[in-house]
Amino acid sequence: MKTHKIAVVAGDGIGPEVVAEGLRVLDACSDKFGFAVELLELPYGTEHWLATEEIFPDDAFENVKTCDAILLGAIGDPRAPIGLIERGIIGKLRWDLDLWVNLRPIKLLDEKFCPLKGKGVDDIDMIIVRENTEDAYVQKPQFENKGTKDEVAQQAMLYTYKGTERIIRYAFEVAAGRPRKHLTLIDKANAVRAQDLYSRVFADVAKEFPQVTTGHLYVDAACMRMIESPESIDVAVTTNLFGDIVTDLGAMLQGGMGVAASANLRPGQVSLFESVHGSFPQAAGKNIANPIATINAVAMMLDYLGEDAASAAVSGAVASLLTSGRIRSLEVGEHGTDEIGKMIAAELSLQ
Ligand code: IPM
Ligand code: MN
Repeated sequence: MKTHKIAVVAGDGIGPEVVAEGLRVLDACSDKFGFAVELLELPYGTEHWLATEEIFPDDAFENVKTCDAILLGAIGDPRAPIGLIERGIIGKLRWDLDLWVNLRPIKLLDEKFCPLKGKGVDDIDMIIVRENTEDAYVQKPQFENKGTKDEVAQQAMLYTYKGTERIIRYAFEVAAGRPRKHLTLIDKANAVRAQDLYSRVFADVAKEFPQVTTGHLYVDAACMRMIESPESIDVAVTTNLFGDIVTDLGAMLQGGMGVAASANLRPGQVSLFESVHGSFPQAAGKNIANPIATINAVAMMLDYLGEDAASAAVSGAVASLLTSGRIRSLEVGEHGTDEIGKMIAAELSLQ
């Protein structure tokens, strides 16, 4: 029997509760589809840092490299300095494992979950391919005359040819594999001229994919377009920072942060799967957070691990519960966190 070794970082806030439901569903899949799962459960997060001052020790990080995949709950807690634990855990995983693709699908499963008037399931079905290892995210902030009226703060938006080329080529491959075969480049090259690199590389790589039609939107117009005519977007590729922003917007189109999932990939290597949402500390421990985003991340992880049937079954179970109305609403508190996890696990065993 095949064994998948999964590192689990439940993290902060609602992380442990939603991860517990993700693991419940994973467990149901291993029974039904005949594979084994070996978990490496890691205690890192703000609570652990407060108790030990440790963020992500090197030996644990080395162990993670021996796993097939990582499942992450959420990181972020107001008791820690802003960004310290997020950058030390999510950032370290993304950058030090060189997880250069952040794949964020946005798919509406039922019209009633969409906040846009007159838009349905055929209109909202896109994939945002977010670059995941460059941009302002990985540059050092610099402060001069800190705390004075003469302060100057800066953090560069830095892009390399290699980083740009690999993400653009990956996005073309994703687009080429979809029925509509349309790829949109989202940037702000009119104001941030450094992103001219994206414009040029996009035009070059496009020549290798004559079957893919292309489009371009500045990021401000892309936000407008995602609301006005989301059906015009099939696959979009963008920089790390803009990808972060447009995928929260996209999450709302598909029903909110409760369902949006992402895969942080280094194709062929250990990769990270997580929800798009944060740690939502106000909801922690109350059994009210929606675990579907994490369960959708488990579906993406199964697909990555080559468990195609299990992945499709999880997505199918989520879809059937949402479209049949058994999961009535995606609002916080409509259903218990464990109630949703159990419903999805039960639905799986019926399929
Ligand atoms: C995300 C998150 C992270 C990001 C934060 C927690 C650093 O918002 O995965 O979208 O900005 O990438
Ligand atoms: Mn984000």
